[in-house]
Amino acid sequence: MSVHPQTETILAGLTLEQKASLLSGATFWETEGIEEAGIPSIIVSDGPHGVRRQSTGGDHLGLLDGEPATCFPPAVGLGSSWDPELVERVGEALGREAQAKRVSVLLGPGINIKRDPRCGRNFEYLSEDPLHAGVLGSAFVRGVQSQGVGTSLKHYAANNQETDRLRVSAEIDTRTLRELYLPAFRRVVTETQPWTVMCSYNKVNGVFASEHNWLLNTVLRDEWGFEGVVVSDWGAVRDRVPSLAAGLDLEMPSTNGRTDADVVAAVQNGSLEIAVVDTAVRRLIELALKGHEGLWPDAELDVDGQHAIAREVAGRSIVLLRNEDAILPLTPGAGPVAVIGEFARTPRYQGAGSSQIVPTRLDNALDAIRAAAGEDVPFAPGFVLEGESDPVLADEAVRLAASAETVLYFAGLPSSAESEGFDREDIELPADQVALLERLIEANSRIVVVLSNGAVVRVSDWNERVPALIEGWLLGQAGGGAIADVLYGVVNPSGRLTESIPERLQDVPAYTSFPGEHGSVRYAEGLYVGYRHYDTREAAVTYPFGFGLSYTTFGYSHEVVRVEGDTVRVSVQVTNTGTRDGREVVQVYSALPGAEVSRPVHELRAFTSVAIPAGKTREVELSFPVSDLAYFSTAADVWSVEGGTYVIEIAASSRDIRARLDIQIEGDPSPIPLSVNSTLGEWFAHPVGAPILNAAFAQVLAATPAVGGMLNDPHLRKMAEQMPMSQMVAFGAITPEQAQGLVDAVEQASA
Ligand code: GLC
Repeated sequence: MSVHPQTETILAGLTLEQKASLLSGATFWETEGIEEAGIPSIIVSDGPHGVRRQSTGGDHLGLLDGEPATCFPPAVGLGSSWDPELVERVGEALGREAQAKRVSVLLGPGINIKRDPRCGRNFEYLSEDPLHAGVLGSAFVRGVQSQGVGTSLKHYAANNQETDRLRVSAEIDTRTLRELYLPAFRRVVTETQPWTVMCSYNKVNGVFASEHNWLLNTVLRDEWGFEGVVVSDWGAVRDRVPSLAAGLDLEMPSTNGRTDADVVAAVQNGSLEIAVVDTAVRRLIELALKGHEGLWPDAELDVDGQHAIAREVAGRSIVLLRNEDAILPLTPGAGPVAVIGEFARTPRYQGAGSSQIVPTRLDNALDAIRAAAGEDVPFAPGFVLEGESDPVLADEAVRLAASAETVLYFAGLPSSAESEGFDREDIELPADQVALLERLIEANSRIVVVLSNGAVVRVSDWNERVPALIEGWLLGQAGGGAIADVLYGVVNPSGRLTESIPERLQDVPAYTSFPGEHGSVRYAEGLYVGYRHYDTREAAVTYPFGFGLSYTTFGYSHEVVRVEGDTVRVSVQVTNTGTRDGREVVQVYSALPGAEVSRPVHELRAFTSVAIPAGKTREVELSFPVSDLAYFSTAADVWSVEGGTYVIEIAASSRDIRARLDIQIEGDPSPIPLSVNSTLGEWFAHPVGAPILNAAFAQVLAATPAVGGMLNDPHLRKMAEQMPMSQMVAFGAITPEQAQGLVDAVEQASA
C-alpha cells in the first residue's frame, strides 16, 4: 500500500534490472539507491543498545569497531526496569543519536524469548515473558521512530539460541508458537508498525524463516497488518527467489548483484511473477523515501546528555536481590569499605557480537565508589578476567577483606563466556571467582556481591551466606556510576527480574532439549518456559520472575478487579511504608483453575512501574483486554477465550501475590463444535449439549438398560466419557439418525 505520493510514479519508471537491484543491499550497511529514479540510499546500523555506525567496512559480529557511540544498558538491563516510559526515552535518545550519525534504521529491538539461560544472546533480549517483551519492545520502537528513524524488530522468529543458528530448525508446536514466541512480535507490530522486521537465520518447523510464507505473509502481513519491509538477518537468505516469493523484501548485506540476477532470470523464465517483485520494490521505495526524508539536516550529538540518560537508565536496571539487616545503602565514612574484584576496575558493560559499541566514555565502579565514599577506598582485583586464576591476587584480596568492615565483591561473567554466535555450556560463575568468594566469606561476614552478567548465573551455593546481592546485569557505559549510586543510596533500586534464577541448570525446563542436535531443536517444554514452568510445577527457584527489593517497602490495599465490556480493569492502592522514596513494579497475573486445556498456573497480563514518595499512597490502575486471556486452539486453528471463573492476581513478583480476586468471564463458544466425534464427556460438559444428551439418554436408558447400567456405574461412566458418540452408534445404542439429530438439536439451540 503506497503512502508516498511519488512511489507509484517511481515504480512505473524502473526497469526489471533496476527493480531487482533494490532487493538487496548496496553495501554492508546501505540500501541500493537509484539516483536517476529519485530513490535515495539509506544507512542502517545496529543497535539495539547503541548506534554502531561503521562508515568504513563493516561486520555483523562485532569484529570491527564502530564510531564511538553512547552505550546504553543492553536489553537485559533495560528490560529489568519494567518501565515502558523509561524504555521509550531510551528509544528517543537512540533515535537522536542515529540522526547525528545519519542512520535511517536502527537494527533493534531484539525481543526473542529467553527460553534457556544458556543462550549466548540473552543479554540482548528483554524477557522470558511475551507480554513483558512486547510492551517494552513497543516502547522502544515508539521512542526511536518518534525521532524520524526506523527500527528493525528482531529476530522473527524463534531465534532462542546461538548454537547452529544459521541452520537449526526450531521445532515448535503451533500453540506454543502462537502463545509464547509470536505474541511479542504481534504486539509490537500491531501497536507501532516498526519500519522493518528482521527475519531470523533459523528454520521454524523445517522452513527457513527467510522463506517462511506462513510467518512472513500469512501471519505478519495478513493477520497482523504489517506494512513495512521484511529484511533478512545478515546472510540469512538461502535462496533469493523463494524468499522473495515468501515475503522477504530486502536481502542484506549486498550480494554484489549475484542474487539480483537470480530475480531477473526468474521473472524472465516465468517462475516469478513481476507483481511479487513490484510489491517488494514498492515497500523499499517507501522505506528509502521515508528514511531519507526523515533525516534531520543538522543533527548534533549531546554526548554528555546521552551519558546522563545512560546513567539514569542503568540505575533503573539494577536488581537488588538480597539486603539482610539493611546493610545497604552504605553511608560514606561509616566504616572502612574494600572493593574486590577486577570487574570493579574493568567493567563488563555490554554483550559481544553485532551489538558491540565503542562507548563515548566508560565509567568504572571503583572510581565511582571512591567518589561517592569521599575516600580512596582500597581495591584488590582478586582474579583476572580471562585465563588462569592467580593465587597471589586471591591471597591479597583475602587479606584486604579481613581489614575492612564491608567488602564489595564484584564478580561476573567475562565477555568470553557469553556472546552472540555461541551459547554457554552451563550457568556457573568462573570457579576461581566462587573459590575466592568462599574465602572472603570466611574472612568477613559483611559482603555485598555485585554481579555483571548478560544472562542468569547460579548463585544457590553461596547466596544465603552473603548479606547482600545485587544483580547488575550489563549496564552500559555509565553502569559504574549507577552501581555506586545504588550502593550509596543516591538511587533506590527498583529493577525486577525478567528471567527466573533457578537453583540448578537441571531445573531449567529446556535442560534436556537445548540446544538440540543434527540441525533440530525440539521445544519439548511447550508453553512452560521460565516462571510458567517453575510456578506450575511449584518448583524451587533461587529468585523468581518479577522479583527485586527496594530500600523501602510497599503495602497493597483496596484491590478491585472488574470486567468492563471487553476489558479487565484492576485498581490497587500502593503505599510506600518505608522512609525512602522508591518505585514499585505492580504486576497482574491471571489464572484459570480447572481450565479445559493445559495452561500455565498463571500468566502475566499487565504491569507498571510507579514512583511513590516515602509514606505516600498511589492509586494504581491497570487494564488488559479480555482477549488476552485467550488460548490458541490448535484443533480449531483459532483463538478462544474459555468462559469461567478467572483468578486475577495482584503481585509484587510472580511469587509474591498480594491479592487474589475472582472475575467471571463469559468466554467464547467452544472452538470445537459438538459432533458425533465428540466424546460423551465433552457432550456432558457442554452447556447446551448436556441437557439435550441427558434427555435423549433418558429414552435410551429406558430402551437399553445395559447402557444405563454403564452410565450409572462410576467406573464404567469414566470409560464411557472417553468414548466418541460415534461408538454409541457403532454398538447400536443409538442410530446414526438419532446421533445426527442430537447434533442438529445443539446447533439449533446454539443459534
Ligand atoms: C547479526 C545479528 C543481527 C544484526 C545483523 C547485522 O548477525 O543476528 O541482530 O542486526 O547481523 O549486524
